[in-house]
Amino acid sequence: MTTTLSVLQEELSSVNGELKTLEIQIQELLEHQQELLQKKTVLEKKIKQFSESESGSSKEINSSTEEWNKEDFPWSTTVRDALQNTFKLRKFRSLQLETINVTMARRDVFLVMPTGGGKSLCYQLPAVCSDGFTLVICPLISLMEDQLMMLDHLGVSATLLNASSSKEHVKWVHSEMLSRSSQLKLIYVTPEKIGKSKMFMSKLEKAYQAGRLSRIAVDEVHCCSQWGHDFRPDYKLLGILKRQFPNAPLIGLTATATSHVLHDAQKILCIQKCITFTASFNRPNLYYEVRQKPSTAQNCMEDIVKLINGRYKGLSGIIYCFSQKDAEQVTMSLQKLGIKAGTYHANMEPRDKSKVHKLWSANEIQVVVATVAFGMGIDKPDVRFVIHHSMSKSMENYYQESGRAGRDDQKADCILYYGFGDIFRISTMVVMENVGQQKLYDMVSYCHNMTRCRRVLIAHHFDEAWDSASCNNMCDNCCQEALVEKMDVTGHCQDLIKILKQVDQMREKFTPLKLIEAWLGKGLSRLGVEVVAPKVPRDVLERIVAHLILQQYLKEDFSFTAFATISYLKTGPRADLLKNKAHVITMPVILNKKSITKVGSGPLSSQGSSTGKKIAVTHKKRSHSEDHIQAKKARTGGNEDDEPVMIED
Ligand SMILES: Nc1ncnc2c1ncn2[C@@H]1O[C@H](COP(=O)(O)OP(=O)(O)OP(=O)(O)O)[C@@H](O)[C@H]1O
Ligand SMILES: [Mg+2]
Ligand SMILES: [Zn+2]
Repeated sequence: MTTTLSVLQEELSSVNGELKTLEIQIQELLEHQQELLQKKTVLEKKIKQFSESESGSSKEINSSTEEWNKEDFPWSTTVRDALQNTFKLRKFRSLQLETINVTMARRDVFLVMPTGGGKSLCYQLPAVCSDGFTLVICPLISLMEDQLMMLDHLGVSATLLNASSSKEHVKWVHSEMLSRSSQLKLIYVTPEKIGKSKMFMSKLEKAYQAGRLSRIAVDEVHCCSQWGHDFRPDYKLLGILKRQFPNAPLIGLTATATSHVLHDAQKILCIQKCITFTASFNRPNLYYEVRQKPSTAQNCMEDIVKLINGRYKGLSGIIYCFSQKDAEQVTMSLQKLGIKAGTYHANMEPRDKSKVHKLWSANEIQVVVATVAFGMGIDKPDVRFVIHHSMSKSMENYYQESGRAGRDDQKADCILYYGFGDIFRISTMVVMENVGQQKLYDMVSYCHNMTRCRRVLIAHHFDEAWDSASCNNMCDNCCQEALVEKMDVTGHCQDLIKILKQVDQMREKFTPLKLIEAWLGKGLSRLGVEVVAPKVPRDVLERIVAHLILQQYLKEDFSFTAFATISYLKTGPRADLLKNKAHVITMPVILNKKSITKVGSGPLSSQGSSTGKKIAVTHKKRSHSEDHIQAKKARTGGNEDDEPVMIED
């Protein structure tokens, strides 16, 4: 009998072992499937683009940049002269010359270039080099004012027309449009002007017939498309321009790269054939860093103040905040400590906004503390730091906002404070947006990633491929040699699910904060759940909860009241996988980080010297009983593949 029992038990344990192995393999396969699905989407997109351009069904002309990267066109001498003498610039940045040549050749062109890349020059310079004037469509008055300020400084005659222009001014512009002796080179208008002012359209018509409308520039051209992030209904009406003025070359500019948006915009603008140039999104002079947000507002401010009074003493910067209230509070805290700061958000009087912007541009204010309203077209060249007091709502937003830094090509820092609580503040804000939550989770994943090059992560997001070597240690993850371990969080997940199931049975709901408190023992007896409080620091607990949300073991569940939206936590679609005893969930944790910053790389003030990256392969077991950990040297130069790996017992 006993022998049979022990044989059976042995067999059972071997079956269990096999099941465990299988479970691991299944999980690996599922992850692999996810990767392949992503790859598939990218490839399908590329094939579609390719076949469209092959068959000529695309509105793009197959154009090589080499063809346009030349300086032997009839206008080349004038163009070079304007670059150096009017715009006081030494050389063109990537794709500027190509774009300028295409539009000087009177062909339609779209330029996709990251924010701060230098798109404005691509129509400002041709405007100066051509007879007549260039019509510039621009979505915001503040953007126009910015550019006018700069053009005025350079001695280029330009102006804007808007609803509050005086009668005299309008009259003057109208006569300049027709006058052969006019020096006026650029006229900025909002799209509404085209759609709504018959008077202006009739003047344009006359100017066009007189050969005075030299070209049309549509800035922020993604605003045409509903698929873009800044859709402006009035941009829809701009198709009239190409229909009425078919021979005036059109140049469209944007920092939004998705081909869907581009095609849509071309259709709306009635462009038949057009050359599209797309610049790389890499901004090599920006140093990217993510920091754990200190647990109290005061500690967070202390941290920021230390940076501003230390590394960034006397240097210009922006702090992006989640809300208007946050922005006001942060400004006040900074001002109390003697830092010259000003708030900027959508709810301020236009006059006050413009005052803050001007004082900051003139370096009379060191820091603008702003919401997303401080966005498109903010163009101060010497912004040395962009601090995110809270993460952005998407990677696109983060890229744009952090991109305000270092437009002069000099080194600048982009520091993001990642706070657990911010996830839910943002998720309740984006809950109505179609893919708002997914975009937010992509942002959270970026923040959670402590091993992969930030540039590689950003590039991946924009369907570009960069290798981490091109980062040149200009991100926290490349700069630090991290000893990463995979922490087994299966037990933690089981406990959390146990609590949530009980909460659900009692017809209650827990916010993330309440869940963590219960996990730490608060009110557990009332719930009648037995869970041992985890002996892990609070920030790690928060990280575990966020990780489990990203991995879909937990999910957010929103509740709407008359005054607010609240995010509660529930068990997620993958929670059932835990029914299988062999199922394991791991989360990467960093054991220690060692700076490997070299001179010439790393953040602004880093002076560190080092002998370069050394690979520290260490195996270390945590004494913590439930954490089975496999120590792993995660990132050594080009290792791009350090997503969670399975633990070894
Ligand atoms: N060839 C160049 N050399 C040096 N600086 C340049 C050059 N071209 C443009 N810049 C500078 O780069 C900065 C950003 O230019 P610009 O405002 O045109 O960017 P943008 O691409 O329109 O960005 P956004 O998408 O935010 O509108 C400006 O300060 C401009 O003077
Ligand atoms: Mg611009
Ligand atoms: Zn990097």
